[in-house]
Amino acid sequence: MKTAVVYYSRFGSTAKVARALGKALGAEVHPLELAQRCSILGLMIRTALGKSVRLAPLKLDWQGLDRLVLCAPIWGGLPANPALSFLRASPLKGKVVAILFTCGGGSLAQAKTRVAGILAEQGAQLGPVEAVNTRKARDADLEAKALAFANVLKG
Ligand SMILES: Cc1cc2nc3c(=O)[nH]c(=O)nc-3n(C[C@H](O)[C@H](O)[C@H](O)COP(=O)(O)O)c2cc1C
Repeated sequence: MKTAVVYYSRFGSTAKVARALGKALGAEVHPLELAQRCSILGLMIRTALGKSVRLAPLKLDWQGLDRLVLCAPIWGGLPANPALSFLRASPLKGKVVAILFTCGGGSLAQAKTRVAGILAEQGAQLGPVEAVNTRKARDADLEAKALAFANVLKG
């Protein structure tokens, strides 16, 4: 199953998790970058309004890609706006999308519901969903969590 890892990271924890996950899966790893300037507050306001942010195009070959793993921080109980914007704007029909959230230990219920809704609209299938609490986590902890999720994905 051809898999790619896509992530958004503002402060670096999600990037570490995503890179470790990509390495464990032997998958390409793509960071989401904003194509417009926007503060965290601005991004959160956009999320509250249901608006996307413009993202730089990814060098991702969608042809033949079966599965995507999206790694995204939780902000205010929801996935950070760039991750939601990516899901809304991508050709996900028929693909499996697994999610690895990073968070500070808060509830993930709303985030899971939001992602499931977008994937249903896109005709994609929600795969495994996990979360890594990055608060006070050392790099080795982040890597261990990424490896555990890679094992879930490998079945
Ligand atoms: C603006 C903001 C809002 C956040 N809101 C939540 C939240 O609602 N629940 C939670 O568990 N963690 C929350 N966090 C913690 C982040 O999800 C966590 O630190 C994440 O790993 C950051 O990823 P990054 O280092 O890749 O940017 C928030 C962090 C920021 C900066």
